[in-house]
Amino acid sequence: MRTNLNRIARRLLAVGSALFLASSCGGKPSPKPAEPAASGTPAAEEPVLNLYTHRHYESDDQLFEAFTKLTGIAIQVTSAGADQLISRIKGEGPDCPADLLVTVDAGRLCRARDLGLLQPVESPALDAAIPAALRDPGHFWFGFTVRARVIAYAKARVQPGQITSYADLADPKWKGRVLVRSGDSLYNQSLVAAMVANEGPEKTAAWVQGLTQNLARKPLGGDRDQVMALAQNLGDVALVNSYYLGQMAQSKDPAERAAFAQVALVFPDQNGRGTHINISGAGVAKYAKHPDNARRFLEFLASPAAQQVFPATSFEYPIDPQFDTSPLHREWGPYRADTLNLSKLGEHYPAAMAIIEASGW
Ligand SMILES: [Fe+2]
Repeated sequence: MRTNLNRIARRLLAVGSALFLASSCGGKPSPKPAEPAASGTPAAEEPVLNLYTHRHYESDDQLFEAFTKLTGIAIQVTSAGADQLISRIKGEGPDCPADLLVTVDAGRLCRARDLGLLQPVESPALDAAIPAALRDPGHFWFGFTVRARVIAYAKARVQPGQITSYADLADPKWKGRVLVRSGDSLYNQSLVAAMVANEGPEKTAAWVQGLTQNLARKPLGGDRDQVMALAQNLGDVALVNSYYLGQMAQSKDPAERAAFAQVALVFPDQNGRGTHINISGAGVAKYAKHPDNARRFLEFLASPAAQQVFPATSFEYPIDPQFDTSPLHREWGPYRADTLNLSKLGEHYPAAMAIIEASGW
């Protein structure tokens, strides 16, 4: 694994250097003086980028290092829970040192945008690299990886093809067999918000009610815990984010690897709307002191060189499948994703939260 990562990091630097040089030479003429070829830091901003992030993946550390090598811009990281970071940006106001808020889930980025904590970024490179459904139409945030909310099932007790859709999870034939974390989880809230957007609140409320009536146990733990519970025969099907399965497959913990070996995965709704996806993404802070460095970092994250790092390390999907380097993803095969524009999640949260609260999930 380590050798593999080193190889990827070296490749990233090689490809990234070429890309960086290409992007700093091409495109519209810049009002700023030409940048020196390799270090490329605009004179107007000191070579610093302050990130507020709650991601904690090995892929991110590799990418920070590679970006600094390419640009000379030092990255300073403030880590905390996502909601804490948002409150902190809000509380610090114009004194906030954050240049970029990096987090997971479009719903959270919509919330930061609606609180007035982000500023729009104009970047033809970002618009070209990132599909419209994965970025904010007002350019306040941009997705740089994709995660699918999939169904894992116990191979010993469920046959392939027996469960194919989110709707199945609410069917009484799965009574007492469904594992899922609590409705407090943003992952579930975003799924419900997407359903409200696609199918309306009534149908969604009926689904949530059916799902909660099928639970094998009171919601407990995170997504990994649901996979562990499948292996312990505590339930037969579980709703989880795809990258947890990849991380468990490569885990240092033998129990996680053993649990992974006992499950298979289904991308729900392949004959319908497609599987619900979400993003890791980022937006430039309203009072960023280094907005240009932040834009360049976003462009770097969306570049092919950086995109290839995510599937190999955090097991997230790249924004364009052609950059997927994960053998596990290849084994799972391509899947159809719901094309709902993720900026729509924000407006459907209130309805989603009301449905979840009424169900006691
Ligand atoms: Fe997660």
